[in-house]
Order: sequence, then C-alpha cells, then structure tokens
Amino acid sequence: MSRHEPATHDLIQIRPKDLAGKFPNQPFATRHALSGHALMTLPALADLARGLPRDQVEYSAGDLAPNQRPEDVRMIDLSPDEVVRRIETANAWMVLKRVETDPAYGALVRDALLSVARQRGFASLEEAGFHDIQGFIFVSSANAVTPFHFDAEENFFVQIHGDKFFHIFDNADRALVSEEELEISPAKHRNLAYRDEFEARGEVFAMKEGDGMFVPYLWPHWVRTGSSWSISMAITWKSPQVSRNNTLLTANAMLRSMGYPQPAPGARPVLDAVKVAGLRTARAVVQPLRRSERMRRAIRGLVFGRKANYYYNDKAA
Ligand SMILES: [Fe+2]
Repeated sequence: MSRHEPATHDLIQIRPKDLAGKFPNQPFATRHALSGHALMTLPALADLARGLPRDQVEYSAGDLAPNQRPEDVRMIDLSPDEVVRRIETANAWMVLKRVETDPAYGALVRDALLSVARQRGFASLEEAGFHDIQGFIFVSSANAVTPFHFDAEENFFVQIHGDKFFHIFDNADRALVSEEELEISPAKHRNLAYRDEFEARGEVFAMKEGDGMFVPYLWPHWVRTGSSWSISMAITWKSPQVSRNNTLLTANAMLRSMGYPQPAPGARPVLDAVKVAGLRTARAVVQPLRRSERMRRAIRGLVFGRKANYYYNDKAA
C-alpha cells in the first residue's frame, strides 16, 4: 500500500501527512472538487428533496442554539422542495438523508470516497474498508445552527456553497458526552446538552466553498453557517469495527431502557459478543419489513415509542 499526493481530479483531496498521521483518529482539513457539480445546485437538490421518501427529509427553523432543547425547535410550513428553493430567505435548516439511495447521488458519493481510497493506496472501496456508504446533504439559510450532537460513523464533510464553522470536540475522557448519552436509540433526539465552557476544549474548522474536513467516529460537534446560505454534504461510511460498536451501543440503550444498564463497549468482551449476536439475529428478522416507509415508521414506533419518529414535520407523525 502506498499513499500518494492528491490530484486535481480527485473529488476529495487530502494531504498525505494527514492520512498518515491523523486518519482515522483526529479531525483534519481537506479540499474537494464537488462545488459546482450539477447534482449540487439548488434546482437539483429541490428535485431530490421532492423525490426522497418523507422519512429521509428533516427540516426546521434555522435559528437554533448549540444547546437546543428538541421540544422548542420551530417547524416550517413549507414543502421539502420549497424549503430548498427558498433557502436564501427561509431561515431554515434541512438535511436530506441517505441521498445514496438515489442512483446519481449514490454514484457521486462512492466516487468521492473512491478518490480517498486511492490516495490511501487502495484500488477499491471494499479494500479500503468503506462499507455502508451513505450521503447526507445539508441545505441551510444564513446563520443557521446544527445543535451539539455526535454521529455514529466516520465522515468526509465537504462545503459546497457558503461558509461553515464546524466546532468539534474530542470526547475521549467522556467529560462532554457521557457513556449513556453515547448509546444509540432512535427514541433519543440526537441533540446533546451543551455548555459554554465546552468551547475552550474544541477546535473550529472554518470552511469556505471547496474546503472540507474529516470527522472522526463519535466526535461531538455543533455547526453554524456564515452570512450566506449554505450547501454541505457529509459522505459517511462504517468500517466493520464501527458497525460492531454501533450494534453494541444500540443493544446497551435497549437494555438500559428495560432497566439493565450495561458496561461500556470493550469492558466485558464476552458479554459484548453475546449482545452483538443477539441484536444481529433480531435485525435479520425485521430487515425485510423495512423496505416501505410506512413499515419503518410503524416499527420505530412499536419498538422505540412515539418519540422515535420525532423528525417528521407533518401531522401524521
Ligand atoms: Fe453531525
């Protein structure tokens, strides 16, 4: 395996010293060639927003706080494609989830990660350990805030239009986000409690069009847009280790909600293996049912309670 310098045709461009010294344990700045791509314009994204299943689109008012109480988030009375078309004045925040389910966007996110795989010296996504590749596109008005949260995957974040300030924090000592908060459940809103004194422990990546960054697994962050509307994309994947750890974090959340709090992943390896096998078996049973949006919504509600569908704007939720 030999790393090489990024080329201008690489969709994501990384300094070899960051790949060697920081990936995948530390955040670092990158460049990219995705701004101006035909799929990343507002008209294309309005079409995408209109066509995605409704549980893959989440939006609200944009003027939120890093320490945002989910119950106080104001909804916006526009359809998904109207939000995109009016983003300049809508004071809105929107995420289009799992955009790789659209074939054209799927090809784009895989191409972007393939450019990273090649710079790492691998010939394919599989060789590089890039599994379960997903894309999330953020369309936001000026001065919109994404409250403090973590993501259970690794991610190359690309800034397509406008400015973005990405405040990111190491959580190795669990001083900012507790073991319980790190457990994964669709019934928990992703927003985490944030206190002003956290800020001194973080690092801010200021990104303009053409800039990007690497976001490590489980590193909490909050994000704000600058004085113009913004388009960004998170290109995510899960290595086998990350998938296994996520299964454990999900099992631990379920067992905690039943009154059995669990040791953190890694503390009891044999118990971990039992829980991973159990949850994977249960998932194999449910997975074929999850193809329709109605069934996904029903399963989330049945297993995790009404709150698990919190991100729907419409009355049917
Ligand atoms: Fe995030």
